[in-house]
Amino acid sequence: MRFTLGQIPGRPNNAIKTSVIVIASQILFVLFIDMADCATFDNLPTLYQYYTAGGIKTGLSDNQTYFTLNNKNITLFSGALHYFRVPKVYWRDRLRKYRAAGLNAVETYVPWNLHEYENGVFDFGNGGSDFEDFLDVVQFIELAKEEDLFVILRPGPYICAEWEFGGLPSWLLRYENIKVRTTNKQYIEFVERYFKKLFELLTPLQFRKGGAIIAVQIENEYGNTKYGNKPVETAYLEKLKELLMQNGVVELLYTSDTPTNGFSGTLPGVLATANFQEGATHELTLLKEFQPNKPLMVMEYWTGWFDHWTEKHHTRTAEEFGKVLEEILSFGASVNMYMFHGGTNWGFMNGANIDDDSFDNRGYQPDITSYDYDAPLTESGDYTDKYYKTKDIIAKHNKIKVRQPDMPASTERFAYSSIHIISELSLEDLVEQSKVLSTDKVLPMEMLPINNDSGQSYGYIVYRKNNLNISKNSTLKIEGRICDSVLVLINGQLKSRILKSKEDFEGFGYWKLQNGSLNLGNEEYKNATLELVVENWGRVNFGKLYQFNQHKGLWQGNLLLNDHVLTIDQIIPLEFKKKWNNGLKNWKVPIFESGPKLYKAILNVDEPKDTYVDMREWNKGFIIINGFVLGRYLRLGPQQTAYLPAPLLKKGENELLVFEHFSPSKQIKFSENLIF
Ligand SMILES: *[C@@H]1O[C@H](CO)[C@@H](O)[C@H](O)[C@H]1NC(C)=O
Ligand SMILES: *[C@@H]1O[C@H](CO)[C@@H](O)[C@H](O)[C@H]1NC(C)=O
Ligand SMILES: *[C@@H]1O[C@H](CO)[C@@H](O)[C@H](O)[C@H]1NC(C)=O
Ligand SMILES: *[C@@H]1O[C@H](CO)[C@@H](O)[C@H](O)[C@H]1NC(C)=O
Ligand SMILES: *[C@@H]1O[C@H](CO)[C@@H](O)[C@H](O)[C@H]1NC(C)=O
Ligand SMILES: *[C@@H]1O[C@H](CO)[C@@H](O)[C@H](O)[C@H]1NC(C)=O
Ligand SMILES: *[C@@H]1O[C@H](CO)[C@@H](O)[C@H](O)[C@H]1NC(C)=O
Repeated sequence: MRFTLGQIPGRPNNAIKTSVIVIASQILFVLFIDMADCATFDNLPTLYQYYTAGGIKTGLSDNQTYFTLNNKNITLFSGALHYFRVPKVYWRDRLRKYRAAGLNAVETYVPWNLHEYENGVFDFGNGGSDFEDFLDVVQFIELAKEEDLFVILRPGPYICAEWEFGGLPSWLLRYENIKVRTTNKQYIEFVERYFKKLFELLTPLQFRKGGAIIAVQIENEYGNTKYGNKPVETAYLEKLKELLMQNGVVELLYTSDTPTNGFSGTLPGVLATANFQEGATHELTLLKEFQPNKPLMVMEYWTGWFDHWTEKHHTRTAEEFGKVLEEILSFGASVNMYMFHGGTNWGFMNGANIDDDSFDNRGYQPDITSYDYDAPLTESGDYTDKYYKTKDIIAKHNKIKVRQPDMPASTERFAYSSIHIISELSLEDLVEQSKVLSTDKVLPMEMLPINNDSGQSYGYIVYRKNNLNISKNSTLKIEGRICDSVLVLINGQLKSRILKSKEDFEGFGYWKLQNGSLNLGNEEYKNATLELVVENWGRVNFGKLYQFNQHKGLWQGNLLLNDHVLTIDQIIPLEFKKKWNNGLKNWKVPIFESGPKLYKAILNVDEPKDTYVDMREWNKGFIIINGFVLGRYLRLGPQQTAYLPAPLLKKGENELLVFEHFSPSKQIKFSENLIF
């Protein structure tokens, strides 16, 4: 069952209310109609009324083989929704879609790297970072309650999640001996400070205090021994448990891992839950054997899957998805569907995997910007067959009759007409407007003395040598690996190759090649400027513990010119922060030559609508909308379009910038749909 835009599924006879909602939906979802009173079960209690009738005496209990909440039976039908991956304006819409599918809970991670974006500087909404509009976690949890959903909280501090560095702040890497995800004193001190701030806000939102949070996770897949987290430091999990309790967490604590990987990531007396996609009966049987007297919960039932750049887009049929969901619920387990709605890895926030045994970066695989995940709701919030499957299956298994809203109408999308590039800034123009640090040392971005001594977290870093004589047929060598890609320029002209195929990642310019060298050609240069523009393509979120100490830029060895060590003169951080992007000046008439440049176009909008930016005519880079870095693109795919939601647009002129590494197009196109 699919329906077209503007059409409301649900009661067809509710014509007046329906038309009101249709109009409202066309004015963007900024306006919300209280749908509770047009719900199908008007006379039923809400979920909250049902579970809190007679007063709140206790929370979610795992004291028997089934869950109770406030001493009433409950099966959790939960879905993951990461507030930081969805525009705030759409939180209510997505949450209502969850509830309308019959879900009674929403699960979210909490990204430390966004909330403490500089060492000791916090943002929980309106905190001044580029992501402030995505960070009001308190509001998100309150909205979840308003939409009649319980909340399962996964505060990390490590969250994996295909998110940059698994949600850890990059400034941790400034401390030479820090060991993240361990009892390392320095690391724990930072966790302590962050948890104090976070839980000051969140503990009042716990169920027993009248809020929505019913359970809190300790760390994340800490027992993933299959991927080399050995030795698992149980003391670290104990420490986190202690910290949560010290900070006033009173709701149910649990850990989350895949049973077939063993139970080394569990704690005595703390509920263990399961993560998997297939083999539900096998996984749940192992979990039951491990803790026979506790309820069963699948904390991550993977509805689809994510993609790395250059992979084929992963999909999973609704039938396969439904079969396993049915198997889980028939087994008597509760479930959290990961993801029920994936959203977007905005800006530079994609994570990466490491897929081999090397201690360095060779097996690095960055994730795409879309986190569509082939989930029941698409990246832009559309219903899919998996959504309807979920709704049917939950209706069949749910024994608790409470009020449920009708399905909200879909949000309209629009393919704007193509827009032309009107101006450009060369790398030199960008550097002129940046902070230029004088140094002869090749440092990784995290170690730069900027951002209140938090270093550079994201974006690009330029290493520059001035007044250099380069003889004909010279060879530039970079010892070690590049983290993660480099463009080589002499006097502003691109000397490294234009990316054509994924095999190019094995050659000079990319992380896979160790000690890569580049022939600089047959020209001779006097007093030249040599620039190495290095891209941070997203830090690893999933790999072995020792792989978590990952710096970005150049730092693994020397630079050599014809086998002689080459010192540098300057480092220029290109962070592409919103304020800086919006203040860029000296735009030139575009000449569209190869090499890294920033291009500008203006999108005129009457009424902002969701759209996708179609980047199929471009090669590699990222997009900026009204100063905010929207996401990356790559012609090699799989993702070809970038979700641009209406809340990031405004009436009138919108500035769209494209930073292209290699070969620009003269226009930017739009599409109504996500194209893989
Ligand atoms: C579970 O049992 C313990 C020990 O009897 C008790 O202290 C606790 O309150 C119970 N938890 C809930 C949520 O009922
Ligand atoms: C709660 O669930 C258990 C296990 O399924 C069942 O034995 C019990 O009767 C249920 N209690 C109520 C009040 O439905
Ligand atoms: C700089 O960092 C310190 C903590 O390290 C913090 O207290 C202070 O507010 C920060 N200053 C600014 C301007 O952000
Ligand atoms: C570069 O070449 C010029 C002209 O030949 C020469 O004067 C200068 O000393 C050279 N610079 C270096 C660093 O070798
Ligand atoms: C260029 O240098 C390489 C070695 O670095 C050498 O093999 C080759 O013959 C040189 N070519 C020319 C035209 O000098
Ligand atoms: C790269 O260079 C380093 C140091 O010069 C050396 O130890 C290493 O074996 C080299 N690696 C490769 C693959 O050549
Ligand atoms: C070298 O180039 C710089 C500009 O990059 C210029 O200021 C300087 O005068 C030049 N020096 C020589 C010797 O040509």
